[in-house]
Amino acid sequence: MTQAPFPATRFRRLRRTPQLRAMVRETALGTGDLIWPAFVRDGHAERDAVPSMPGVERLSIDLLVDAAREAASLGIPAICLFPYTDTALKSETCEEAWNPDNLSNRAVRAIRDAGIDIAVMTDVALDPYNANGHDGIVRDGVIVNDESVEALVKMALAQAAAGADILGPSDMMDGRIGAMRTALESEGHTDVTIMSYAAKYASAFYGPFRDAVGASGALKGDKKTYQMDPANSDEAMRLIARDLSEGADMVMVKPGMPYLDICSRVKREFGVPTFAYQVSGEYAMLKGAAERGWLDGERVMLESLMAFKRAGCDGILTYFAPDVARLLNA
Ligand code: PBG
Repeated sequence: MTQAPFPATRFRRLRRTPQLRAMVRETALGTGDLIWPAFVRDGHAERDAVPSMPGVERLSIDLLVDAAREAASLGIPAICLFPYTDTALKSETCEEAWNPDNLSNRAVRAIRDAGIDIAVMTDVALDPYNANGHDGIVRDGVIVNDESVEALVKMALAQAAAGADILGPSDMMDGRIGAMRTALESEGHTDVTIMSYAAKYASAFYGPFRDAVGASGALKGDKKTYQMDPANSDEAMRLIARDLSEGADMVMVKPGMPYLDICSRVKREFGVPTFAYQVSGEYAMLKGAAERGWLDGERVMLESLMAFKRAGCDGILTYFAPDVARLLNA
């Protein structure tokens, strides 16, 4: 691309008015780009605030159904559920994860039964149910891969049976996508989609989320033997290729803002449905600064989400989803 020199080319000509800027805008953010991660708790008509995520609440199922209805009416295509599990239900063997009547599965069914036109996504990982807070089963201090995969498959099948449209394996065990896909096919869940958390990094940006689901206290050690080293990029491409070959329909990069280079590379190299998770710590940074008046909350929210679209993402999991959808609809 060659460009005539100044003054034949003056870039400011096309920035002069809002109309001219709109004409040459390369990227658009719409409500259809949003997936809303929501926290579910037990009880009826109960809501409680998550202190490290200002504006985010855990909702009991009845209130979650109302919130899902509102999200659908705002044009948000998908909601992703994360359960706050009672400590009494956590164990080393994690059976509660595949209980057909666990909190997450009851929430999925309630949204389905209410006839709300929204895709329901669930999280496939053992951490909410694990007494030690890990995403896989721990034996003698080691997170054991293949046994974890067996547990994750049972969990995935229970979620599919409850009516989940999208399964989101966030556990980072090896071989789980293939095992889940095979089990889903053989149980007749041929239309259930998998959005693989393919490139999920061992990140300090997940802190507020672990508070929200009550896993911070439980977690022993860190997740570095299964989540990725933040220093790696080629490895992310290998993981994406692997998960696609095992039957993932969509892939995800997580966290989001510090990993836009990975999002961009994934979209360019694979050309598959690519999503990013703007995680709890990213939300907390923007929201916390906005609350103190240090940043313009509305503008940084929109700018941060537009950046994902510019990087090539097809959609973003973001706690801002309802707020940004209201703004885009206004
Ligand atoms: C756990 C899971 C995590 C998140 C989504 N699923 C945390 C973790 O891996 O420790 C983080 C989401 C966020 O920070 O918003 N399987």
